[in-house]
Amino acid sequence: MCENIINLSYLISAVLFIIGLKMMSAPKSARRGNLYSALGMLIAVCATLFEKNVIGYQFIIIGLVIGSAIGGFLSVTVKMTQMPQMVGLLNGYGGLASTLVGIAEYARLYPTLSLYDTVTIILTIIIGAITFSGSIVAYGKLEGIVSGRPITYPFQKTINLVQFFVIVGGSILLCSHPESYVWFSVIVLISFILGILLVLPVGGADMPVVICLLNSYSGMAGCAVGFVLSNYCLIITGSLVGASGIILTQIMCKAMNRSLTNVMFGAFGKVDSSGPETRTVNVQGYAPEDATIVLESASLVIIVPGYGLAVAQAQHNVRELADLLEKKGVAVKYAIHPVAGRMPGHMNILLAEANVPYEKLYEMEQINSEFERADVALVIGANDVTNPAAKNNSKSPIYGMPILEVEKAKTVIFLKRSMAPGFAGIENELFLLPKTMMLFGDAKDTVIKLVNLLK
Ligand code: TAP
Repeated sequence: MCENIINLSYLISAVLFIIGLKMMSAPKSARRGNLYSALGMLIAVCATLFEKNVIGYQFIIIGLVIGSAIGGFLSVTVKMTQMPQMVGLLNGYGGLASTLVGIAEYARLYPTLSLYDTVTIILTIIIGAITFSGSIVAYGKLEGIVSGRPITYPFQKTINLVQFFVIVGGSILLCSHPESYVWFSVIVLISFILGILLVLPVGGADMPVVICLLNSYSGMAGCAVGFVLSNYCLIITGSLVGASGIILTQIMCKAMNRSLTNVMFGAFGKVDSSGPETRTVNVQGYAPEDATIVLESASLVIIVPGYGLAVAQAQHNVRELADLLEKKGVAVKYAIHPVAGRMPGHMNILLAEANVPYEKLYEMEQINSEFERADVALVIGANDVTNPAAKNNSKSPIYGMPILEVEKAKTVIFLKRSMAPGFAGIENELFLLPKTMMLFGDAKDTVIKLVNLLK
């Protein structure tokens, strides 16, 4: 009876996770989706605590108190721009937890492990350990603890390949001799090392993609633990995380027009001495007063936010600016590029924080046809996602990436601090067009100036 109730609870949790995930695909329902999923997790945790295998609650309570204190502290102190590394770190903990469960189960069942036990434990440990060490490196790169540049060295791929074969060979040996704890230890150790070596050659700016991939791995590790412990809820949850992580990774790669292989092994961002020289161009900046005149006389202004908006934390001021323009009869829309910023949904989250109505946010495919009739494209801290080189220059690293066609607007106003390039490290010819107005300065300061002038 008790087992039936527990399994029923797991089923309810799984349904809530699926509904939650579905709701998270639209900004309007995303918050509720999060709550549904959290409720599902609460039910799953409570059901697990009633399992007959739980022999004592004291460690669970200690873990709960310490974990909640750390989690609570992080949730209020982490800045929005630090979110990718935060997610990376949490993925890593998921991987570590799976690895520890795998090791504990190996020790518990030793030396009479069935083939099923050995295979599931090996899978848990390999995926979990790679996820953990890879995520820690990803965290270090984004936090600036490890160099953000791709770290490459001779025979890198060969060394990784050798390690891969040692893991595969060791696993086959362990399946036939599960009591060989030496091979077990080798697999654990090399999996940890492989995780580090796989992520080191990836450039810091590509880390969000890697973090999504590692997120998927942490799900797969959780799923493998589910098989080890015969826990249906873990199997379902792990599969959901694994599948959604890999789908998100694909979406990000597609939006950047890069293959996953290129992200993982292309060492994007490595200093290439043979590459094209970047010219030093001086451009006359405009004053906020000039931009205010153009904005006030516009009928339609399309705001294009980018990574610089997140750095400047200008979202609340941008909302104020849009409200003021609307009061003056100007229609305002926001154009959201799928990879603007540095993590999926970065711009949506920032603008939601400033309570910008969801219906004013337009995806690239919806808004691109509207730039033609827009009087102003107000580009705030965005660069690559507007760069026409993606369409015109087949040698450009962003060639093929779909962009927001801001150049079709009557006037393009760029808010950025300098002529510096964005993530892809390339010039943007739009800065030099006669219809472009460059407003140099921190985005927040400039928007505040525009707001004051409009008032
Ligand atoms: P970027 O091309 O990176 O350009 C951001 C611009 O913001 C920079 O040129 C910078 O110029 C400006 N900026 C920085 N701080 C600023 C501040 N405080 N005030 C004003 N401007 C500031 O950004 P984007 O257009 O959003 O494109 C995103 C890029 O990241 C794409 O190439 C994409 O492929 C890549 N990427 C995205 C993701 C995801 S999932 N979103 C993941 C990995 C990579 P100044 O220094 O001159 O101010």
